[in-house]
Amino acid sequence: MTVRINPSILSADFVNMQADLERIANADFVHVDVMDNHFVPNLTFGPQMVRRIQDVSPVPLDIHLMISDADRTAPEYAEIGAASVTFHAEAAENPIALARRLREIGSRAGIALKPGTPIEPYLEHLDEFDQILIMTVEPGFGGQSFMADMMPKLAALSAEAKRRGSNVWLQVDGGIAEATIAQAAEAGADTFVAGSAVYGAQSPALAIDSLRDLAAA
Ligand code: DX5
Ligand code: ZN
Repeated sequence: MTVRINPSILSADFVNMQADLERIANADFVHVDVMDNHFVPNLTFGPQMVRRIQDVSPVPLDIHLMISDADRTAPEYAEIGAASVTFHAEAAENPIALARRLREIGSRAGIALKPGTPIEPYLEHLDEFDQILIMTVEPGFGGQSFMADMMPKLAALSAEAKRRGSNVWLQVDGGIAEATIAQAAEAGADTFVAGSAVYGAQSPALAIDSLRDLAAA
């Protein structure tokens, strides 16, 4: 089984970003949380910072947009050259049209679902997306507790993706750590975001290896 580990730089040192990116060179992607203090009650950075991250990162960018008005802003992140751009279902007027636009620009297109957002409306349209992000915390902050009660939603999505022969990636984000990653893998996730579990470790690189082993077990 393919396992992707995407450390979230929300837990990195924002004034030593380049050094903190180099510490995760064995990751698959770097997860970049963009927050606007409107869609979520927290603020990070915008396209100017993301452009510099793209310049210096040893691994491709997996951008998680927690911003309102994704229709207008998400394409700008795809233009930067990010490997993937994921927007929240509620933030787009027409999620399918936006996903098509992101793919046209050349990024993988992802849709993110908050804990209370149902997956059912998107099951018919899995082929329109390259990845589905199932949030396992309320978006906005790192270091929150993993919501194990999201596992049935993930498992239902995974079963439906298999039934349809879809190769959409299933991503989980929030509270992923050594104690929780196996549950998420068991429920069908293949792409794992981890912020505090990677950057809070003595060695982020070893933490990535160990998360990878636990997910693959
Ligand atoms: C939360 C962000 C996450 C966050 C995860 O809204 O989307 O990517 O960095 O942090 P941890 O892994 O600490 O829960
Ligand atoms: Zn995230």
